[in-house]
Amino acid sequence: MCGIIGIVGVTPVSGRLVDSLRRLEYRGYDSAGIAGLVGGRIERRRAEGKLRNLETLLIEDPLTATTGIGHTRWATHGAPSVRNAHPQVAGRVAVVHNGIIENFAALKAQLIGQGRRFESDTDTEVVAHLIDRELERGLEPLPAFKAALDQLSGAYALAVLIQGEDSQVMGARRGSPLVVGEGQGEMFIGTDALGLGPFTNRIIHLDDGDFVAIDHQRARIFDRAGVSVNRAMRVVPAASALVEKGNYRHFMEKEIHDQPDACQHTLSAYIDPITSTVSSPGVDFSAIDRLQIVACGTASYAGMIARYLFESLAGLPTDVEIASEFRYREPALRPGALALAISQSGETADTLAALRWCKDRGIMTAALVNSPESTMAREVDVVFPTHAGPEIGVASTKAFTSQVAALTALAIAAARQRGRIDAAEEARLAGVLLEAPRLIAEAILDDGWILPVAQEIAKARDVLYLGRGAMFPLALEGALKLKEISYIHAEGYAAGELKHGPIALVDEATPIIVIAPSDALFDKTSSNMSEVIARGGRVVLITDNQGAGHAPEGVNVVIAPACDPLIAPLVFAVPIQVIAYQVAVLKGADVDQPRNLAKSVTVE
Ligand code: G6P
Repeated sequence: MCGIIGIVGVTPVSGRLVDSLRRLEYRGYDSAGIAGLVGGRIERRRAEGKLRNLETLLIEDPLTATTGIGHTRWATHGAPSVRNAHPQVAGRVAVVHNGIIENFAALKAQLIGQGRRFESDTDTEVVAHLIDRELERGLEPLPAFKAALDQLSGAYALAVLIQGEDSQVMGARRGSPLVVGEGQGEMFIGTDALGLGPFTNRIIHLDDGDFVAIDHQRARIFDRAGVSVNRAMRVVPAASALVEKGNYRHFMEKEIHDQPDACQHTLSAYIDPITSTVSSPGVDFSAIDRLQIVACGTASYAGMIARYLFESLAGLPTDVEIASEFRYREPALRPGALALAISQSGETADTLAALRWCKDRGIMTAALVNSPESTMAREVDVVFPTHAGPEIGVASTKAFTSQVAALTALAIAAARQRGRIDAAEEARLAGVLLEAPRLIAEAILDDGWILPVAQEIAKARDVLYLGRGAMFPLALEGALKLKEISYIHAEGYAAGELKHGPIALVDEATPIIVIAPSDALFDKTSSNMSEVIARGGRVVLITDNQGAGHAPEGVNVVIAPACDPLIAPLVFAVPIQVIAYQVAVLKGADVDQPRNLAKSVTVE
C-alpha cells in the first residue's frame, strides 16, 4: 500500500524522491506525487497511474526543491486521480499519508463549518487542514503537528512539509510503518529501509505513536505523549543491493528461484545440522495447550498447512483463522494458548489487530515474520524469523515457502517437546526437512512440463484447483496465485468437496488442476479425477513419477520431484507458482504489480 518518502537534502531532491518511490512500487499503488519547497513556497507534481507518468511530468516541469516529500497512493478514499493523489495541500501545509483516518468525515464537516474548502475526496486532506488551522492559531510547526495528531483516530504514517520551513520535514506513525534514515548532512524519513536504500543504511525504527522532525543534521523524536525520546539507530545490511532483478524478467521469477536459499537460510534458524535437533527459541510447546494461528492471504494458507503438522506430529490442537474475521468472533481463547501471527511484512493491519486483541486478553503472542524490525516483531512476546530476504513481487512465493519451512521445523520441535516423538525420530524428520531446499531447486529446474499446461490455462476463463490433506491449502494458494497475477477466475477446493458443488462447473472450458503426490490419499483423489474426466472435464495432474504411472487415462501431467509427505507442501508449491507465473507472462500481465493489489495491506 501507500509508500512515503521525505528528504531534507542539500541538492535537489525530486530525482531521489522518485528513486525511492520506485523502490516502494512493490507495495502497490495507482497514482504518485511529490512536493517540495521552492522559494519558500510549496510546489507539487502529481500523476495518475505508474511512476513513469510522474517522471514525464517532471521532465516537462522540473521541481528544483532541496527539501521534499513523495508518495505512491493506493486508493482508499476517493478514486485514483490527480486530484486525490498525494501530497494533499491546505494553506501552508503539504501532507502524504499511508493508512486511514477513521474520523475524517466528522473532522471534515467541522473544518468545512469553519469555512475551509476541500479539493479532494481523500481522508488525508483533513490532516493538512488540521495542521494549517493550528498554524493559523499561532502555534509553531511542531506543536501544530502534535495538536493535529491528537485529533486523529485510525491508522497513519505521515510526512509533512510546511511552507517557510525550508529545512524541515515532520513525520508520525500510528499503526502504519515509518522509519528515519541518517545521511551526511541530509536526513530522510520513509516507509521502510528498502525505500531509503539508495541514500543510507543507517536506520531508526520509530515506535508506534512516535512523531519526528528531521532537519539537515538530526531527527528529534517524540513519543505519543510528546516526550522527547531516543530510538536506536541500526545499520541495515546492504538494503540497496538486495532488490535488484538481476537477469530475471520479473521479481516473481527471481523470487521463485530464490526459494532454495530462502528455505535453507530459514531452516538454519531452527535446525542444528550437527546434532540433528530442532528448536523453537522462546516457546516451550509442552506448556501450550492450544495454538491459534492468525494470518491473511497467502500467509493464512501457510497456516493451514501448519495445522496439519502441529496436530498430526505434535498432537497440539490448532486453529487457523483469517485475521480480518478473528476478532469479530470473540474467540474463546484462554491463557495457555499461543497466538501465532504469520506475516511476510509484519505490518498487515488485520493480523496486527488480531495479535493485539490476544495480547489485551493475556494470551502469549508470537509472530513468524520476514521483517525483523516490523511492528509485529516489535510487539509480540516471541519472534520466529523467516530469512527469505526482501520479497518484491506482490504475489508471494519465497516468503510462503520459507513460512512453511519454518512452521514444519516448529511442528517437529513441538512434537519432541510434547513427547510425541523421540530423539531418533526428531533427527529423521530434521533430515527430511533439510532435503527440501535441494528438492525445491529440482522442481524449479524441471519446469519443462509447465509451458504446454500454461498455454492451455491461459485460454481459460475459470480454473479449479483440487487437493486433499496438506495439498488442499496448496490448492487454495494455487488458485490465489493464478487470479492475482493473470486475472483468471480460479477457486481452490478440497478434492472431497468436488461432488458437493464444484462438479457442476465441470465442462471442457474449465481446466481442473489437481495437486496429488503419490501418498496415502492419492487413490481417493484419483477417483475424483476420473469423475471429472467422465464428465468431459480436462485435468492437469501435478504429481511425482509414481503418481504419473497411476494417473487415470486422459490427464495432462506435470511431474514434481518425489519427496517425503512432510515436505510435499514445499516441493509442490513450486509447480503451482510457475504455472501462475507463466500464464501471467503469456497473457502479458503486469506480473510484479498486479492491478488493485498491494504487497503490504496496512489498512483494515
Ligand atoms: C497481501 C499480499 C499477499 C500476502 C498478504 C498478507 O494480500 O498481496 O501476498 O499474502 O497481503 O501479507 P503479510 O505481509 O501479512 O504476509
